[in-house]
Amino acid sequence: MKIVVLGAGYVGLTTSACLAELGHDLVCCDIDDARVEALNRAQIPIFEPGLSELVGKQVAAGRLKFSTDAQTHAGRADAVFLAVGTPSDEDGNIDLTYVEAAVAGIGPSLRPDTLLVVKSTVVAGTARQLKELVDAVRGDSAIAVASNPEFLREGSAIGDFMEADRIVIGADDARSEAVLREIYRPLTRRGVPLVAGKTVNAELIKYAANALLALKIGFINDVANLCEAVGGDVTAVADGIGRDARIGSAFLAAGPGFGGSCFPKDTRAFASIGRRHGAPQPLVEALIQGNDQRKADLAQRIIAAAPSRGRVAILGTSFKANTDDVRESASLAIIPLLQQAGLEVHAHDPQPEAAKRQLTDVDWHDDPLAACRDADVTVILTEWDEYRSLNLKRMAETMHGHHLFDFRNILSAEQAARVGLHYHAIGRPD
Ligand code: NAD
Ligand code: UGA
Repeated sequence: MKIVVLGAGYVGLTTSACLAELGHDLVCCDIDDARVEALNRAQIPIFEPGLSELVGKQVAAGRLKFSTDAQTHAGRADAVFLAVGTPSDEDGNIDLTYVEAAVAGIGPSLRPDTLLVVKSTVVAGTARQLKELVDAVRGDSAIAVASNPEFLREGSAIGDFMEADRIVIGADDARSEAVLREIYRPLTRRGVPLVAGKTVNAELIKYAANALLALKIGFINDVANLCEAVGGDVTAVADGIGRDARIGSAFLAAGPGFGGSCFPKDTRAFASIGRRHGAPQPLVEALIQGNDQRKADLAQRIIAAAPSRGRVAILGTSFKANTDDVRESASLAIIPLLQQAGLEVHAHDPQPEAAKRQLTDVDWHDDPLAACRDADVTVILTEWDEYRSLNLKRMAETMHGHHLFDFRNILSAEQAARVGLHYHAIGRPD
């Protein structure tokens, strides 16, 4: 099928490359000229393992192209996927500006049989609202709008897409469902389950899934606080409860609070739509508040351990490992609080470019141990693999102080004690 994807970000690029790999003919369009120009020179604007190779392979095979001319390409497509951003507004609602502008831009040039597919994360009722918008800009009611939320994680996007636990499609008419089933046939033939229903249910599934996963993280972080208070070990507790198949072991790693471009924004939107419709979501409301507070509390732990005007080394600024994304990363909340408390911040991240644009007055280092030089306190904020094998002896020698905060529980107290570091983990005895 001829498919156009609007948006060449984490989701749009992955979707385009993977649908091309499944044999479809793809044009990925973005309004950002520089981004499209770079993609046409085979430069991938984001760090996502394997994406550069897959994009290169599909471009070489002639199945994937990039363009800024969405109108022309959408006018020739069987399906157009919307994968543009849906950020939070100041009240926690999602801002549909990009989605609406994209639909209004291409609406008039679509063939009557083209299916518009909403892949961006949008609240319940949005597909139906966009159907009204596209009808209004065209002056007819030819275009069907379907929902196909995305469940990939940054850092493992391609695997999550190609070997999804399930594909969710929402369609309010039989033809739309048939088109989406056809698009995904190469995956369903390999055994990937497909869940089909109405658009409103597909939209709700996406938010409810993200909210429940975020609740697991918030819960285990609260358990970690209790473990610290009573001398327990959250890793052992998570392992013990996770072996119950009804609970499952995934998303029970205690840490500095969830971040990223999705959980914070999507939990806010879920809570906000609940308030608006008189169906409050108190669990999610409490989760959001607790997650924000957690980052502030962890900053206080660091401040309490550091001498006045001391130096802190931050290892890891991305919101999790294997991505360069810093949107709502713990580092963006914690580092400014350390600076406000008069501490000097030195940092390292294997993919620091986005963080460098967002954080001010940070001294950046290409090597983690160089960031630790003369530090009073070192803090591991992201679970990059290279921090698991740090030379702690050299870290202890180069540091001025001896406090090592491991907010991802990737090292152990024994390792740290051997080289004279005072180890502080999450939800484990010091
Ligand atoms: P992103 O910010 O990385 O990319 C969005 C892209 O859309 C940008 O390159 C922007 O220039 C482009 N854009 C904006 N308006 C456009 C238009 N009119 N036409 C064409 N391109 C346009 O966003 P993302 O992280 O890929 O997220 C996109 C959507 O997918 C969001 O709704 C998000 O919640 C959802 N989602 C994201 C992830 C993830 O892991 N990042 C996973 C699942 C779902
Ligand atoms: C998340 C979901 O996992 C995806 O299914 C979903 O498609 C995506 O949001 C989205 O809707 O955009 P992502 O944000 O890429 O994916 O990353 P996750 O691996 O879910 O991590 C989110 C945050 O939770 C990170 O800050 C991570 O460090 C934290 N986390 C995750 C924990 O603290 N503990 C865990 O056990 C798991």
